[in-house]
Amino acid sequence: MAKKKAWGGRFGAGTDRFVEEFTASIGYDILLYRHDIAGSVAHVRMLGKQGILPKPEAERIAAALREIQGEIESGKLSFDLSQEDIHMAIEQRLIRKIGPVGGKLHTGRSRNDQVATDLRLYLRDEADEALALLSKIDGTLVARAEELFGIVLPGYTHVQRAQPILFSHYLLAYREMFARDADRFAEARRRINVSPLGAGALAGSTFPLDRAFTARELGMEGVCENSIDAVSDRDFAADFLYACAVTMMHLSRLSEELVYWSSSEFGFLSLPDALCTGSSIMPQKKNPDVAELIRGRTGRAYGNLVNLLTVMKGLPLSYNRDMQEDKEPLFDSARTVKRCIEGADLLLRGMAVNEGRMRAACDDGFLTATDLADYLARKGVPFRKSHETAGKIVRYCEDRGKRLKDLTLKELRTFSREIGEDVRDAISLSNSVRFRKTRGGTGPDPVRARLSALRKK
Ligand code: ARG
Repeated sequence: MAKKKAWGGRFGAGTDRFVEEFTASIGYDILLYRHDIAGSVAHVRMLGKQGILPKPEAERIAAALREIQGEIESGKLSFDLSQEDIHMAIEQRLIRKIGPVGGKLHTGRSRNDQVATDLRLYLRDEADEALALLSKIDGTLVARAEELFGIVLPGYTHVQRAQPILFSHYLLAYREMFARDADRFAEARRRINVSPLGAGALAGSTFPLDRAFTARELGMEGVCENSIDAVSDRDFAADFLYACAVTMMHLSRLSEELVYWSSSEFGFLSLPDALCTGSSIMPQKKNPDVAELIRGRTGRAYGNLVNLLTVMKGLPLSYNRDMQEDKEPLFDSARTVKRCIEGADLLLRGMAVNEGRMRAACDDGFLTATDLADYLARKGVPFRKSHETAGKIVRYCEDRGKRLKDLTLKELRTFSREIGEDVRDAISLSNSVRFRKTRGGTGPDPVRARLSALRKK
């Protein structure tokens, strides 16, 4: 049988070993130690300020908590399962360190508002780190888009060659996605950064707590307005997991392209040796494992979101122990998304682009067939008709193994009397790109405009 618990007063017998092990979260919530201590220091300082505890006692407790942080960071402190969770472990250490006065820390507080506070402080840090990494990858994409400006590759729909695009435009598409991801993290952070402290177990407190003070001490924007909601709410955690999941979705799409564009079949890109790994049997192999693992780890991020939503589904108010299960998905998604952004950033910095292969791929596949239809439309042919005519020309080429640019004017005119000498210019690869001047389009003008707008940001 295990040691006496902090909550052991009403218990006649010690906790069963199995139960101790089954219920403990100390094995993973140790990760929250800094946030737990920050929350406790704010709380005890407030107790001192309000005269709920004598000031010297409050100060003594706060100082000891800081020391405990040092002990944890230098590896001097070890925890065991009997301590249940990080909150109890730190409190026990506090009491062992400064005696019974340490037992006053928990005045006017419950582990329910405590753990909600810890989690919010932790997620605020994680959101900030994700934001910093997203801003880094944003910078990488802009820098590479500037460096590689002018390179043309086939753009795809349905994985079929569609229309020529600037490689820079492609890179900046991911920039837009990561900028929205950053918005999502910032939005999640706004909802995370509200203080539940003072909600107690669920009903508030009989002590004259100053909730605004603890919120301010913790750098939080305001307090949760309903004590029941304060301890029951994990929406903010779901917001964070959703932001992670969408970011991973974007990273996995980028990874997919890095994987197959670096294959010999495509050869559009090559990834540096330092970022690839070999095969244990095939000596020639150089595998894009980092990109594959980013793609693969997306499954975790989705799973973690569904995990938390499922834990919360149908839970009666207010706190239920089920909610302890919120931690591992959060820790896993936070770590995963940060590592994967870092990995993708390395790949984007390191990749070399094979301009020749990209251009060659543009040469067959009738990428300027739309430009041919547009050309006829500009001559007054209704677009539906010009689309059909261009389609027939493509079919004619395919039957004869020709490219659009191989056709003579005479051949072209058998399809439409409207076709003149100027058709050559209209269907050249470079003009196809150049004339896509619409805002947000792939032409060099709008892409340059976007780049310079981003540079100003
Ligand atoms: N380890 C618990 C959790 O993570 C802390 C809160 C426990 N509260 C309680 N009433 N047992 O949710």
